[in-house]
This record gives sequence, structure tokens and C-alpha cells, in this order.
Amino acid sequence: MTSSVDRSLDDELQGIRQGIREGRFPARAFNDQQIYDLEQDRLFSRAWCFLAHESEIPAPGDYVTRYIGNNNIIVARTEHGDISANLNMCRHRGNMLCKSEMGNASHFRCSYHGWTYKNSGELIGVPYMKEGYEGRLKRKEWGLVNVRVDSYAGLVFGCLDPDAPSLEEYLGGFQFYLDFYLKQGGEGSEVHGPPDHWVAETDWKICAENFAGDGYHTPVAHQWGFNLGYFPSSGSTHSQGWAASIPGLGHGIGLGHSPNFPPFGGFPDDLAERMKASFTPEQVEVFSQVRTAVGTVFPNLSFLMQPFSLVPGESGVRFVTMRLYHPVGPGRMEMYSWCLVPKDASQEYKDEAYRAYTLAFGQAGTFEQDDFENWTKVTRAAGSTMVKNVDFPYIMGMESERDKDFPGPGHVVRPYVNDTNFRNLWSRWADYLVGEV
Ligand SMILES: [Fe+2]
Repeated sequence: MTSSVDRSLDDELQGIRQGIREGRFPARAFNDQQIYDLEQDRLFSRAWCFLAHESEIPAPGDYVTRYIGNNNIIVARTEHGDISANLNMCRHRGNMLCKSEMGNASHFRCSYHGWTYKNSGELIGVPYMKEGYEGRLKRKEWGLVNVRVDSYAGLVFGCLDPDAPSLEEYLGGFQFYLDFYLKQGGEGSEVHGPPDHWVAETDWKICAENFAGDGYHTPVAHQWGFNLGYFPSSGSTHSQGWAASIPGLGHGIGLGHSPNFPPFGGFPDDLAERMKASFTPEQVEVFSQVRTAVGTVFPNLSFLMQPFSLVPGESGVRFVTMRLYHPVGPGRMEMYSWCLVPKDASQEYKDEAYRAYTLAFGQAGTFEQDDFENWTKVTRAAGSTMVKNVDFPYIMGMESERDKDFPGPGHVVRPYVNDTNFRNLWSRWADYLVGEV
């Protein structure tokens, strides 16, 4: 039964949804218990959520534990080589089954009463089976709670809603842009080591929005990077490029263009050649013009590719980071941040890309510090009492015409500095929160 409080929140959400269409978004959404609870119930329980990169669990028995919303999930490579995801909870009395974040195990044994499962989730061992249960317990009825999984180009996603559309439909053409991060060279990508992982007093949505293509903040928040020569762009040209989004689905990417940045600059020549050969002609046309590509797969998975100069003033090496914003409370999240490298790249390039990633976007990375300093302050303000009726403007690019000559899919507008992707992101968020997805 819906309470009166729920009904008024639903009314308010309808108002928020209308406001997004008109170019405003409520500040309180970035730090609010009711909205956080609703995100758990209506968004993370229904959307396709990122679990792991296949290269994190290459061998049978390899596993990681991750989250979908507040559900802890074991993601494991089974003895047959496929990937299985199961709720990390013993079916007997609900104890956490696997207490490690990563490892290798063919089986998991509960530390409470000893029920034992294959890493595929099948219950195979029950102490005192005969004496205790006297034939009444059917093992096949008490396997782990299974999670639906699907993958794209090495990304493994899970979905708690059995009726949700396929992952392919959910991504809805955004794969065109994801390939720039995931299909460099001919053999796809892999993670370079385990993720950096930390807790931040920041709402997950602020990060999801920023990485959906916030080219606006870069020359200000990361000004030092321009001034010292670590980042080959300039404040005067930084707005150039495109904002691309998949209408109605929430995914968006900012494609920054610098007039003097060479096509596929920042990659070794042999890798650049393999990229040109493996991408479609439309992808080559788009990617060759892009210096920085920063995008969010709705709701909380992002990618960034940008050049970073290990020696200030030099042209810089291009790296890719993938990041997941796991919400753990209103205005609080756990961050996972990986460096992705092309599988077939030289070890020298992989190490150099990892160095650039670490200096810019690792846990203590300089860009990372710039961002979280701002994001924690936004989050703190959003939770204060005076903010209840304050909206923010999302009106940049309200009148932007679609760039009809652009060969990539989705709604594509210029310039790169634009709010179009964010209105699309928040519209999708609001659709889930009002229960209309
Ligand atoms: Fe930033």
C-alpha cells in the first residue's frame, strides 16, 4: 500500500521530470535519503548494471565480488568457462558466503553452518544432510539466487529485472562510441591490474553527470593541467567538439576536439594503424577527430580517454579509464577505477598508459583530486536545509540543432560544452524513479 508520504514524493518526482525537460534539476537530488531509497527500489533493481570486465576473471574459478545497488554479487568464471553471477548470500541463513573481493575458488563454503556451493551457484554440500533433513531437502531447490548477466566487448553487466529488455537494446547504439575504449587494436581491451577503490562523500550522480561529457569544468577545475602543459588543449579551444547522447536511454558522451591535435595522436603508430583497420569507416571518421572522449553508460559506469603528458609540454600519451560509482548512501559512494589497455599493445605502451592514468585519474591522481574537492562540496551543500527548493540550470544547448553531418548515432550537437547529454541522463533517471521504465 502506498503511503501519503510516498504519494507526495511521486507527485514531486513528476514535477522534477517536467523540470528536466525545461532545463532545471533539483539540488537536493544529490544528497537525499528518500531519493536514495527510491533509486535502490526502482533504478538499480531494474537497470543493467556493470559488474566486471571479463579480463578480471580470465581463468576458471576466478571471481570478484561487486554490487548491484545494495546487493553484493559474486561474479565468477565457472569450470565451463562461462560467467555466472549470484547473490553473495548463503541460502540457509543468509550469511555472506564469500568475504574476499577477488580470488580463485571452484567452490564457496559458508562459514556459519557449512553449506557448500559450486561457483556457478549450485548447492552441492549440506552437513548432516541425512541425519538432519531426512530426505526433505532437495539440493537443486536451494542454489544461490542467480543474477541475469550479459556482456558487450568484455563488459559484464547484470540485471535484477527478468523482464528488462536485452543489454543490446538497453545500450541502444551507444556501442558505436564504447568501441573506442573497448575495441582498440584487433583483440579488445583488458584491465591493467586491479581497480583503485575508495569511499567518497560524493553522490554517485555527480560523477555520472560529469563523465557524461562535462567539458565545461575542465579548463577551470583542471586549470593547472592546461597551464603546466600536462594536458594538450587550451581554454580558448576547449569548447570545440560534440556532445552525443542516445535519446531516451540516458547514455551520453562528450567528444572534445582540438584543431591542432593529430588524428589518433597519443597512441603508438602501430596501434593507431590497427585501430583504423578494425573500426568502421564512420568510427574512424569520428575517432580521428577526437582528443578527449568522456562518456557515461546509464546509470553509473563511465569511461574517459584523454592524452596526458608525462613530460610537460610534450604531446602526451592517451590512456583509458573505466569507473564505477557504487552508491552506499545518500551523498556517499564507493569508487572503482580501472585503467584499460588494448590487449595487443606493447608492454611499453601499456605501462606508459598506466603511468599517465595513475598520475591523472588514479586514487591520488591530480585530475581526480580536483574533481572530488568540488564534488564533495556540491554533495554537502545538496544535503543542507536551505537547498530543498533550489534548482540548478540545465539550459545550455536547449536550442542546439542536431548535427546532421555527424556520422555517429544518437542525438549529436555542438559544441562539446553543452547540457544536452545531462538533460537526457536525468530524464532517464526520472523515468525509472517514477516507475515508467
Ligand atoms: Fe574533471
